[in-house]
Amino acid sequence: MSTTLPLPSLDTVDEDRTAAFEDRFVHALNEGGMLQLVSLGHRTGLLKRMEDGVTATSESLAGSCDLNERYVREWLGGMTVAGILEHDPDTMTYRLPLEYGSLLSDRGDSNLAVISQFLPLLGTVEDDIVDCFRHGGGVPYSRYGRFHEIMAEDSGQTVLPALFDAILPLAPEIIGRLEAGGMRVLDLGCGRGQALIRMAERFPESQFLGYDLSEDTINWARECSAERGLNNLRFEVRDLTDFDRTAEEAGFDLVTTFDAIHDQAQPLNFLKGVRRTLKADGVYLAQEIHASSHHHHDCGHPLGPLLYTISVMHCMSVSLAQNGEGLGTMWGRERARDYFARAGFGSVEVNQLPHDIQNDYWVLRP
Ligand SMILES: C[S@@+](CC[C@H](N)C(=O)[O-])C[C@H]1O[C@@H](n2cnc3c(N)ncnc32)[C@H](O)[C@@H]1O
Repeated sequence: MSTTLPLPSLDTVDEDRTAAFEDRFVHALNEGGMLQLVSLGHRTGLLKRMEDGVTATSESLAGSCDLNERYVREWLGGMTVAGILEHDPDTMTYRLPLEYGSLLSDRGDSNLAVISQFLPLLGTVEDDIVDCFRHGGGVPYSRYGRFHEIMAEDSGQTVLPALFDAILPLAPEIIGRLEAGGMRVLDLGCGRGQALIRMAERFPESQFLGYDLSEDTINWARECSAERGLNNLRFEVRDLTDFDRTAEEAGFDLVTTFDAIHDQAQPLNFLKGVRRTLKADGVYLAQEIHASSHHHHDCGHPLGPLLYTISVMHCMSVSLAQNGEGLGTMWGRERARDYFARAGFGSVEVNQLPHDIQNDYWVLRP
């Protein structure tokens, strides 16, 4: 029996709607090109060089950033046509207006150029993903060359600036207990470990431990911690797929995960492990993508299409590559509540923080 649905007759097509979509698509093509140029400007240091509104020529920029002038000139042309740079054709100079410079460099509260790097990164594995559409399976972390670097830059904006003033205070007793000392803190899927490093510096009387699957990222975190001379912090390579069985029982006062549940191979095992390793008066703080568990409710999500793209081309796929569940970036609040309950958490609260439209912040207790 065929499952093909009958085609609607062509005379029901609304031509205005078609034309509007065509306009939107052309706009998206141009904006996609602009994002790629921004990513290049971020990686080459051009945006940083221009962040304070300096007026520059292609030669002066190429010289000060140690880049090839022909590439710089073409990039300047594209950024001008995209309406980001101001250009004086008489003097052949270019300028990044301060209003844009504060959004595309570290001068302002958050650097949007950081997130522009995700689409080019995903483009590097498109062939692998097409193959997965045909044959199933996933794409391992090792195929995403710069993933951990970009991820650390991204969480450097969503987590680090808000860690002490907004995220930890979601569990009001935590900062006082960390200051008093003797707390054991575990960060799972810690990546390059920046959150733990900040906490270990700030609370020298407490002990910190980070686990991650990736050897490279753990080595990076160890080096960074050693440079700072921290002796209350350790990082270990560890696959958390069987954490439900292998987690140290009642070992930690605080467990944190930053964007690290949904791309695990076995998120429920992972959460059961968190529950097992928390002390009776312990707290689990989890940052996870803000979404509903139903895509029809996320049509107005401010980052919905981007986050689904990241899911198809990264988060779901890296989990499937570990023979995992492939939960997906947009698993959402309803499913999260179900998983937290099944993992045995008794108290579950969810918050959004004003600096971060991308994430929810969960506070969980035994
Ligand atoms: C989205 S990244 C978040 C990294 C970090 N928390 C941050 O905010 O920058 C998810 C992390 O989970 C780690 N991960 C994925 N699967 C894992 C597994 N099976 N065991 C341990 N860590 C895993 C990845 O290596 C990655 O660093």
